[in-house]
Amino acid sequence: MASVTLEKINKVFGRDHIIDDVDLEIGDGEFVVFVGPSGCGKSTLLRLIAGLESITDGDLRIDDTVVNDLPPRERGVGMVFQSYALYPHMSVYENMAFGLKLAKKTKETIDDRVMATARILQLEELLHRKPKALSGGQRQRVAMGRAMAREPRILLFDEPLSNLDASLRVQMRNEIARLHYRLGSTMIYVTHDQVEAMTLADKIVVLNGDHVEQVGSPQELYQRPATKFVAGFIGSPTMNFIPAQLLANDDNGCRVLAAGVGELALPQDARAQPQSAPLSIGVRPEHLRLAEPSGDNRFEIVNVEYLGNEVYVYLDPKAGDTLLIHRSEAPSQWKLGQHVALVPDTQHVHLFDEGGAALDLPAQRQAA
Ligand SMILES: Nc1ncnc2c1ncn2[C@@H]1O[C@H](COP(=O)(O)OP(=O)(O)OP(=O)(O)O)[C@@H](O)[C@H]1O
Ligand SMILES: [Mg+2]
Repeated sequence: MASVTLEKINKVFGRDHIIDDVDLEIGDGEFVVFVGPSGCGKSTLLRLIAGLESITDGDLRIDDTVVNDLPPRERGVGMVFQSYALYPHMSVYENMAFGLKLAKKTKETIDDRVMATARILQLEELLHRKPKALSGGQRQRVAMGRAMAREPRILLFDEPLSNLDASLRVQMRNEIARLHYRLGSTMIYVTHDQVEAMTLADKIVVLNGDHVEQVGSPQELYQRPATKFVAGFIGSPTMNFIPAQLLANDDNGCRVLAAGVGELALPQDARAQPQSAPLSIGVRPEHLRLAEPSGDNRFEIVNVEYLGNEVYVYLDPKAGDTLLIHRSEAPSQWKLGQHVALVPDTQHVHLFDEGGAALDLPAQRQAA
C-alpha cells in the first residue's frame, strides 16, 4: 500500500497548459475520486501518476520516493481503463496472467495470484473463456483482475463503468466499494458520474480548467462547497442559483435582495463585500419550499416530474434561462401552470460573491 503526493505538478502538451501547479495528498488506503468537466485533465492526471505521460514540472511521490522518472511497471500501480483493452485472443486466465509473465514471475506465483484474484472477483467459472464470450460487466471485472493480479500498491481507474448499463453500473459500483474495503489499497478513480463520486469516495477532487477547485469528503463538498462551480457540480439535481444584491451587513449576518424572491436575512459574513455588491444565492432543490404567491414572489411551474418516491417541480427563473428546481417527497400538490412563491430555507442557503467564492459563515457559528 502507498500514499501519493503531487507537488506543483504541471503538464504541458505543445502550447496547451493542461495541468497547472496541482498539489494533492492521497493517503495510504484512501479512495480518491477525480471529477470535473470533460477535457479538464482528469485522465491526464491519472496517466501522470501511472507513468504513461511524462511530468512537465513538479514532483510526484509514492510514499517518500520521487517517481517522476520511474517507468510505469516500477511504480507499483495498476490501471483499469474505460475501454477494458483486454487481449481478445487470450482467455480470462491468460489476460490476468499476462502482466505477471512479463514480470517474470514463476508459474506457481502466477497461478496463485490469478486464482486468488479470480476468487475475489468471482471469475473462477470464466477463466477459460475469451473476452468476446463475456458480458460487459464480466469484461470489466477481468480488466480489474488484470490490474489487481500484479498486486499493485495503487489502483487507478479511468471511468471504468461508463460503458455499462445503469443496473450493472450500480452492481459494479458496489463491487468496487467492497473490493476497496477488503483490499484496503489506495485507489484513484476518475468518473463523470455524480453518484459514483459521492458513494465511492473518501475524498473527492473537483477539477476545473487546469486547476483543483476543491478537495474534500463528499459531505464537505455537498454541504460546504467553496465555490459556485463546486456547488453546481456536486449534487443532482443541481443547486439553484439566483442573482442577489447585498443590502446590509450586521452582527448576525447579512441581508440580500434575491431576484424575484425578495429580501432574505442570511447567516453569512459579507463584511468584506462592497456596498450593494452583486452576489448570488445557491439553494439546493430540497431546500427550496414552494408556497402560495405573495406580491412579486411569483414563479410559474413549467414542468412537474414524478419519480415515484420524489417529485421535481421546475420553475421559470424569470431571469436567465436555467430552470429552477424544487424537490420534495411524492406526492406533490403542485401542478404544471400554477404560480408559486419561492421560500428558500435560509439556514441552508449558500452565498457567493461575484467571482464565485463562497461567503462563509462567521467562525463561531460554523463551530456551533
Ligand atoms: N497526448 C495529448 N496531446 C495533446 N493534448 C492532449 C493529449 N492528451 C490530452 N490532451 C488534451 O488535454 C486536455 C485534457 O484531456 P484529458 O483526457 O485529461 O481530459 P479528461 O478530463 O479526462 O476529459 P474526459 O472527461 O472527456 O475524459 C484536453 O484538452 C485534451 O485534448
Ligand atoms: Mg478522461
